[in-house]
Amino acid sequence: AAEPENKNILQNRNPELNERIETVLESLRLGDDSLRQIMQLLEQEMDTGLSPATHAKADVKMFPTYVRNIANGSETGQVLALDLGGTNFRVLLVNLLPQGEVRLTSKIFVIPQSIMLGEGVNLFHHLADCLVDFMKQEKLNQPGVHYPLGFTFSFPCHQEGLASARLTSWTKGFTCAGVVNEDVVKMLQKAIDEKNINVQCVALVNDTVGTLMACAYKKPHTSIGLILGTGTNACYMETLDRVGTWNGDYEEPKQVIVNMEWGAFGNNNRLNHVRTRFDEEVDLSSVNPGKQIFEKMISGMYMGEIVRLIILDLMQQDLLFIGQCDNYGDYRIPLFIRGGFYTKFVSTVETDEGIAFSNTRRVLQDMGIRNPTYDDCAIVQHICKNVSKRAARLAGAGLAVLINRINKPQITVGVDGSLYRYHPRFKRNMEKCIKNLVNKNIKFEISLSDDGSGIGAALTVAAEVLSCQSDKN
Ligand code: GLC
Repeated sequence: AAEPENKNILQNRNPELNERIETVLESLRLGDDSLRQIMQLLEQEMDTGLSPATHAKADVKMFPTYVRNIANGSETGQVLALDLGGTNFRVLLVNLLPQGEVRLTSKIFVIPQSIMLGEGVNLFHHLADCLVDFMKQEKLNQPGVHYPLGFTFSFPCHQEGLASARLTSWTKGFTCAGVVNEDVVKMLQKAIDEKNINVQCVALVNDTVGTLMACAYKKPHTSIGLILGTGTNACYMETLDRVGTWNGDYEEPKQVIVNMEWGAFGNNNRLNHVRTRFDEEVDLSSVNPGKQIFEKMISGMYMGEIVRLIILDLMQQDLLFIGQCDNYGDYRIPLFIRGGFYTKFVSTVETDEGIAFSNTRRVLQDMGIRNPTYDDCAIVQHICKNVSKRAARLAGAGLAVLINRINKPQITVGVDGSLYRYHPRFKRNMEKCIKNLVNKNIKFEISLSDDGSGIGAALTVAAEVLSCQSDKN
């Protein structure tokens, strides 16, 4: 049965109107049985992705990453890192000091829409320009000094080595031309070399992998990395004999981190039975229709838009903002603009407790509703809660599959991403749901991996390259 929802938000309203609102929201509710069924489907998809015979047709690509060692805190050195994949682009300098101490300086740069949607070479030139800018600021231009660089590139890549990765498709609003099927490390290195700086990209990692690495540095039981931000995805440490697509050597450690790319779960219609018409609409108006179906039900790039579409639907049925909006559809009002309801508003609305609804009221006024009533606020909060809870439960079901599959007595999950960080109850909802779905003998812990996607690339460089160098010395 579905989790009980608070159905009495509107004690004073006409019960028939409430019933009609509940009918709309009912389509978002996933009980534990539905989640168990989704878990089975996901596990099948994972095996399809890991097997060479079926990999090509799999939704969930399960890319082996070539990261096999976890940094253990003994590495020291100075590493540069680039972090591209969410709303911002960051350049970092990571100093790994003795006793596992990490010092970090970083600078955030904006990626203009024109670059996100333009030619790929321009994207890499822009990244190299930002790197040069940062190195000047940090005075990292001494002649003769050589800087290793880790590149967090958070898009699906088929890797052939730690520093060799072909982009298989863009996600999250990027569509730069001329990059799909190309080796993005080569493209980056070319742009860097044109700047005459002594920087060598030695590792490319997904943000999930960076997050796992950064968390493992502090917590040895870490074997899963999860991102809940603009997009969503997970990676985990898998034993080599389960990775049929593995092309590397079979030396110890017989394990490799697998980047699942779980956002694509559902691309072959496997989730149609749980998708709502709002999900379909979000998908159709995106830059990549039919792609990243699971991601579009969960992550920050889409959550606010789902809420907005439900609000519009209730308005059209005369169930919300009654008599308050004579200009329905007016494109000057944020509520009527696609993407006008930001996901961060979902978090703001859900922080209101009790009956004052001061945050919700402010958000709605900014959206163009001048005088939202108590009922309006309560309904909008109710919508937000249902949408974010569904997302937390879907992500929880995905994690439960991994926890059960790894099946060790103690498992730590490193998590990063704005949705997880700033939403007031995402973590609680996700944890509660996982408890019901995992084997009872496993103890799991979910841990915020601070700055994981940035530091992780540097740690990967350290674990794979610096440690080899010291082995050789
Ligand atoms: C998208 C990307 C994936 C990334 C995730 C989180 O799903 O395809 O590579 O890990 O977003 O940023």
